Amino acid sequence: EGYFTYDPGFVSTASCESKITYIDGGKGVLLHRGYPIEQLAEESDFLEACFLLLYGELPTKEEKEKFTTNVRRHTMVNDQMSTFFKGFRRDAHPMAIMCGVVGALSAFYHDSLDISDENHREISAIRLMAKMPTLAAMTYKYTIGQPFMYPRNDLTYSENFLYMMFGNPCEEYKVNPILAKAMDTIFLLHADHEQNASTSTVRLAGSTGANPFACISAGIAALWGPSHGGANEAVLEMLNEIGDESRVDECVARAKDKNDPFRLMGFGHRVYKNFDPRARVMKKVADEVLGELGIDDPLLKIATRLEKIALEDDYFIEKKLYPNVDFYSGIILKALGIPTSMFTVIFALGRTPGWIAHWNEMHKDNSRIGRPRQLYTGPAQRDFVPLDKR
Ligand code: CMC
Repeated sequence: EGYFTYDPGFVSTASCESKITYIDGGKGVLLHRGYPIEQLAEESDFLEACFLLLYGELPTKEEKEKFTTNVRRHTMVNDQMSTFFKGFRRDAHPMAIMCGVVGALSAFYHDSLDISDENHREISAIRLMAKMPTLAAMTYKYTIGQPFMYPRNDLTYSENFLYMMFGNPCEEYKVNPILAKAMDTIFLLHADHEQNASTSTVRLAGSTGANPFACISAGIAALWGPSHGGANEAVLEMLNEIGDESRVDECVARAKDKNDPFRLMGFGHRVYKNFDPRARVMKKVADEVLGELGIDDPLLKIATRLEKIALEDDYFIEKKLYPNVDFYSGIILKALGIPTSMFTVIFALGRTPGWIAHWNEMHKDNSRIGRPRQLYTGPAQRDFVPLDKR
């Protein structure tokens, strides 16, 4: 008793066995159920990748149709939710609202509280996939003071999300299919990433038997931090702050200065020590979207220059720091008209199938409650000192 393996930051501790996602950080490989992320991004779509993560195989045509229809049937949220939103300040950060409203779903679906029943777990998974875009768009509409838009089930998953974000009751909103495809690819690139901080949080919360809505809400909270999902928002803030290509060197110098806590946001990864394969696809999508919209965004020039300088710099080479998934996603999201404060919400939408797949795998494996130990470094036992003697 009292002797444990000490591994702060879980650098070398495997917390579970998993069949969902494989990463070879040295080679820059990311596979979902064996399929390379590049092929999925090129040939599949977000809902199909979601099916793959949840059920282990690519769906047949019939299975895909059934799954898509099932998700579509659950896109609406209980009308009471709109009252719930109204308790938040309009200037609340969207992630603060998301932590609350996603967790609140457990107040509406009592069957989700009994997670020992596989059917309950499955319907909760469908509900989460279906309602996350609705809740995310409601969050945005609430913060800008516009009416909530009901989901439209004649649209694809990503088209419907853009419609609920940017449509309004006064005029027709035409979804640009190229932009909807880019949105879909962004979701897909975020779909899962094995035992990252938010997924580990979902698993740890889930290991207690807590309901899936509460667990995903815990995952959203963990994702919010700037070292994790919050980095996409931080990247755009950083690029804006740099403001001009001529100031890129100064920024890189700051990142290298040990006395300066500043880090290049969107650079570095705990696991990838070669490159992040998602960042490559993301750069391609950024070029496509900016081309389609005819946008000549100076931020992309700053980002490209920053990437070039950092990749050639000894500090970044030595520490194996490469652009990660968050580096280019912000530029695409900005071009799609999505405000910076919603960036991490988009990450949360994309990561939802991964969170659910891991939560479900854990329950299927009948895993034990997660209960890390510690190395105690506090005072040894001592006697209580009464207040008048201290
Ligand atoms: N800029 C400058 N130096 C850095 C950076 C950076 N972005 N990232 C790491 N380093 C340095 C760090 O100072 C340390 O130096 P030293 O060995 O001299 O102390 C060394 O590289 C190793 O860094 P670490 O913090 O020990 O590495 P980690 O595996 O604990 O952290 C990370 C990984 C992603 C949190 C970190 O690289 C970082 O803070 N990056 C910026 C934030 C970011 O882009 N996060 C998104 C990650 S990808 C998507 C996601 O998971 O959500």
